[in-house]
Amino acid sequence: MLPQSLLLASGLVLPAVGETVLGVTVFTRHGDRTSKHYPGYSLTPLGVQQNFRVGGDYRKRYIASNSPTQILGISENKVVNSQLFASAPDQSVLLNTATAFLQGLYPPLEELDSDIASQTINNGSSYANPLNGYQYVTLHGEESDSPDTVWLKGDEGCPAATASMERFEESAQFKEKEQSTKSFYQSFADALSGVYDYKPSDLSYKKAFDIFDLLNVASIHNASIPGNVTAEELFQLRTLADSAEFASNFDSSDAARSIGGKTFAGAVLRQLNQTVSSKGKLKFSFFAGSYDTFLAFFGISKLASVSDDFHGLPIYASTMSFELFTPQTVSEFPSNTDDLRVRFLFRNGSDGAVPLRAFPLFGRSEESLSWAEFVSFMKDIAITSAEQWCNTCQSELLFCNAYKAAGTSASSPGQKSMSNAVAGVIGAMVTLGVVSLLGAMAFILVRRRQAARREPAVIRRVSVNEKGSVYSDSASESA
Ligand SMILES: *[C@@H]1O[C@H](CO)[C@@H](O)[C@H](O)[C@H]1NC(C)=O
Ligand SMILES: *[C@@H]1O[C@H](CO)[C@@H](O)[C@H](O)[C@H]1NC(C)=O
Ligand SMILES: *[C@@H]1O[C@H](CO)[C@@H](O)[C@H](O)[C@H]1NC(C)=O
Ligand SMILES: *[C@@H]1O[C@H](CO)[C@@H](O)[C@H](O)[C@H]1NC(C)=O
Ligand SMILES: *[C@@H]1O[C@H](CO)[C@@H](O)[C@H](O)[C@H]1NC(C)=O
Repeated sequence: MLPQSLLLASGLVLPAVGETVLGVTVFTRHGDRTSKHYPGYSLTPLGVQQNFRVGGDYRKRYIASNSPTQILGISENKVVNSQLFASAPDQSVLLNTATAFLQGLYPPLEELDSDIASQTINNGSSYANPLNGYQYVTLHGEESDSPDTVWLKGDEGCPAATASMERFEESAQFKEKEQSTKSFYQSFADALSGVYDYKPSDLSYKKAFDIFDLLNVASIHNASIPGNVTAEELFQLRTLADSAEFASNFDSSDAARSIGGKTFAGAVLRQLNQTVSSKGKLKFSFFAGSYDTFLAFFGISKLASVSDDFHGLPIYASTMSFELFTPQTVSEFPSNTDDLRVRFLFRNGSDGAVPLRAFPLFGRSEESLSWAEFVSFMKDIAITSAEQWCNTCQSELLFCNAYKAAGTSASSPGQKSMSNAVAGVIGAMVTLGVVSLLGAMAFILVRRRQAARREPAVIRRVSVNEKGSVYSDSASESA
């Protein structure tokens, strides 16, 4: 065991004595990136380093054999893809975030174990993977028109969530804040003068996140910002963005606000349940996503009532971990699910001095829940199928048509009549959609059969190659 000071220094927490970790599901935010305001935004080298470092810290906690919280039976050095599941929305910042984290989780094999890094073929020549034995963890990118997009981006393409967020923007609370911060936002006219598409009217609480993001990124990367934004002003901008974003992702009296958190809860439940039902074959599930998923989950899991800190935007490369463990030292996966417990941990950013800390979920006082309680609480808040998501959202995404078969697909009463030209275009799109949907379904069936033979069925993975959807990708990226 490492000395406690060392473990704390590397951002780890000590487990209770005699406990065995059996599997985890981890979610991370991207590291430092260019401003989301500009299309084609990307992870910066600093950001890649942050995600990589966090991946390395998770390696120290869950994979290294000298860690008291090493996951039972996990391969220490060589990637065993059947033990892992990794997924990110099909957006470059988040895919690259996941890749960087996974590089830290499983570094190049030659560094770890040069004996197994290379293979000798029949004629006597030896080969290792490029880049000193770089290891390839299978990473599933979820396209925005695939049903599996809902697990990490459940708030996108979801009219019910959009309508709920609009209710926030129309609320008295919002209008009051917009008024009281008007002159504050106007004072950044100089600082934001370089942002080509900003009009003076854009400088308001309505754009709280965008303005904070622009100036936060500028404070890290731009040598000088005209108008000299001070640390206090940046803090104030952050606090206002915190309030706007938290309220956009959680309202205790408006469940639709948190749909992105609900689908995420469904994904966590599904991954951990997969670990349980496979008796620990799946050991490490990993997702990359956005701050809004954190905030929505903080709200619906009652973490936000544990501490006000959960109302704030998590720092770049923040992570949460759902740890499945048994309170005994065991050498085999427990046969009785009564022996299983789940603990939630959160780490704010990538700074090594910031610990991964446990927090009680669902308003409980204990820092862990029995598996049965966890399942029951999570089921209460979760969306667990694409069909449930389609119905909750009233979504028009093409894959939702598959669930409308039972006669509800005809236009509902009250819909505006449309011109023949528009109807023709829509008809053509629907036809294309059906064709690509059929293609996708055939593809899914084949893929599923293949997948069933190869690996444990983790979150149902679907790749729809053809974009049948009119749903625009770039307009909706949020990371
Ligand atoms: C062995 O086979 C590989 C692949 O065909 C070839 O590139 C390499 O030059 C061979 N090595 C020797 C020593 O013949
Ligand atoms: C920061 O610099 C980038 C690149 O030069 C520029 O596009 C952006 O507008 C600047 N941001 C601010 C707030 O000045
Ligand atoms: C920015 O403001 C601070 C505090 O008001 C001041 O110390 C500093 O010199 C200013 N920097 C520039 C570049 O104007
Ligand atoms: C867990 O997985 C098992 C086996 O696939 C399934 O029967 C059960 O319904 C799942 N439970 C939850 C809570 O998802
Ligand atoms: C994470 O750090 C940010 C910035 O300091 C803060 O606003 C937020 O409340 C923190 N979140 C938690 C859960 O500690």
